[in-house]
Amino acid sequence: MVCLGNICRSPMAEGIMRHKLKELGNNSQVDSAGTGGWHAGQNPDERAVKTMNQHGLDISNLVARQFKKSDFDRFDLILAMDESNYDDILRLSSHDHHRKKVQLILSYSATTDKNSVPDPWFGGMNGFEHVFQLLDEACEQVIKSHFK
Ligand code: 4NP
Repeated sequence: MVCLGNICRSPMAEGIMRHKLKELGNNSQVDSAGTGGWHAGQNPDERAVKTMNQHGLDISNLVARQFKKSDFDRFDLILAMDESNYDDILRLSSHDHHRKKVQLILSYSATTDKNSVPDPWFGGMNGFEHVFQLLDEACEQVIKSHFK
């Protein structure tokens, strides 16, 4: 799961996906990263933590890191939160088989035709709840496509 800062959208996506896979008894590895490194080492934004708590999920212990080239080999599926994250990830890749792993997470969604999960950083709690709803549904579809 990849966004810009790795403190709002992608750690939420990581928490949601890990929870859904655990419920299925699937122990695939789930991780998240940011295309930018400014927040590396930080825990998720407190608004993201609170929103996830309201849905019974705890992401308070996650630690932000920057996406790196070796992630292309470590992971089978790389899901970008928005179109600029998608472009930034592709710019780091030098192999077709790496590029094929990269998808926009909302390309899986059955309920929105938008391509990007909006960046909630500058808004209030409503924006975080909206992000949760988008990611929860998209993750369900990712699971249907790849894990069932
Ligand atoms: P994220 O949100 O990409 O969903 O983690 C952001 C967090 C921080 C910043 C931008 C987006 N920032 O500009 O610091």
